[in-house]
Amino acid sequence: MAKADKVVFECSACGAQSPKWLGRCSECAAWSTLTEVRPRTAAVRMPPARVPLDLDAVLAEPSVRVSTSIGEFDRVLGGGLVPGAVVLLGGDPGIGKSTLLTQVVLGMAKAGQAVLYVTGEESAAQVALRARRLGRADGAFILATTELGDVQSAVESRPHALVVIDSIQTMRSAELQSGPGSVAQLREVASRLIDLAKQTGAALVLIGHVTKDGGLAGPKVLEHLVDVVLAFEGDATHAYRLVRGQKNRFGPTHEIGVFEMVAEGLREVADPSTLFIAERPERAAGSAVVPTAEGSRALLVEVQALVAPAQYGAPRRVVTGLDSNRLALLLAVLQRKAGIHVLDQDVFASVAGGARVEEPAVDLALCAAVVSALRELPLAPGVLAFGEVGLTGELRAVPRAAARIAEARKLGFPRIVLPTANAERLTAEERSGVELLPAGRLSDALDRMF
Ligand code: TYD
Ligand code: MG
Repeated sequence: MAKADKVVFECSACGAQSPKWLGRCSECAAWSTLTEVRPRTAAVRMPPARVPLDLDAVLAEPSVRVSTSIGEFDRVLGGGLVPGAVVLLGGDPGIGKSTLLTQVVLGMAKAGQAVLYVTGEESAAQVALRARRLGRADGAFILATTELGDVQSAVESRPHALVVIDSIQTMRSAELQSGPGSVAQLREVASRLIDLAKQTGAALVLIGHVTKDGGLAGPKVLEHLVDVVLAFEGDATHAYRLVRGQKNRFGPTHEIGVFEMVAEGLREVADPSTLFIAERPERAAGSAVVPTAEGSRALLVEVQALVAPAQYGAPRRVVTGLDSNRLALLLAVLQRKAGIHVLDQDVFASVAGGARVEEPAVDLALCAAVVSALRELPLAPGVLAFGEVGLTGELRAVPRAAARIAEARKLGFPRIVLPTANAERLTAEERSGVELLPAGRLSDALDRMF
């Protein structure tokens, strides 16, 4: 056997290589992390295929994005699919990834684009059944296979605007011994598919399952290889779904697209704030509304808290859709810097409706919800709040204040408590139509809300 064909084993945790398989990595001592990889051959220096270009000339090139036929999906992608770009869409099983991409394929086929849906999970008949429920399938092609070679021949056989791989974990290259879904297979198959996309100009969407603990064979290892990483989020017990941009070489990151899962598939939600605060109880203690700003869009969500004296042991802090460390920190600031005695209480906090908020702009509303729950006193009617809370109890400016205020105005919230530093930078037009209550400190902000 030639040296280049020799197999090596690589630790998925630390990257150390070994000529034979070991149960435990000799470098980092992790168990069962060694997987088969092909040894890297030294790069051969080739004559240059590319020459430097005038940057201005490059930027002036017209954009050639192709619409996915779904506005919310186009938005997350930064305006549509870029030919040759590779998109990784990760999400829990059952969240609706196949449904979304089936709808995209049907919509693009209807618009006359050449599309191919590769399924390694379901049979062609199963996908056809789903497609029939979702729309007319004129001109959409399906390939049921788990072999990389089949995909390569199909993609090379004619030009495609879009090729969907459902899912990347089921695909395997016959050239590797290890089973589908292993890190070695995942990397090999993905890099072959990426080459294929770049060569043929077909946009490629790789669907990947992630487990709650971000499982080893999950798409994590692919994130640096692809151009765009999208996360499909949502709570299986709720109807709506978010597609969130996490990386985008061709557009803005952190854009979100909002969908609702209905009997006819995923429906775009044009006005998500209405949806997220729809079931908000009127004047209930422990509820506060916050305008979050993800990507180019502001979104109102309701933060809820429940506070009860701790029965035994350390007080409990339980969160859903929020950062639990952030809650712990805010409770300490409330007690030490705002004089609100809360550290001996069990605190439960959540974002209503299964949404998730990670930005610090939610701090003030979360504090307000906790204080409201503790005092059993609802917030003043029509008030909402945003702002980051610092460790000395100061209220800090957050990005995109104008967009947050505009969304509040649109949904009829007349009063907004916000950091002074944000209020000072707003233009007269941005302040119009709402009453702004700026505060420099958490304690002042809370006073303005009850
Ligand atoms: P699916 O797209 O198969 O999820 P994934 O590919 O992420 O594993 O969709 C899963 C769920 O969506 C399934 O429980 C049924 C539901 N669903 C609907 O509610 N309406 C529909 O029109 C379709 C196609 C699916
Ligand atoms: Mg699926």
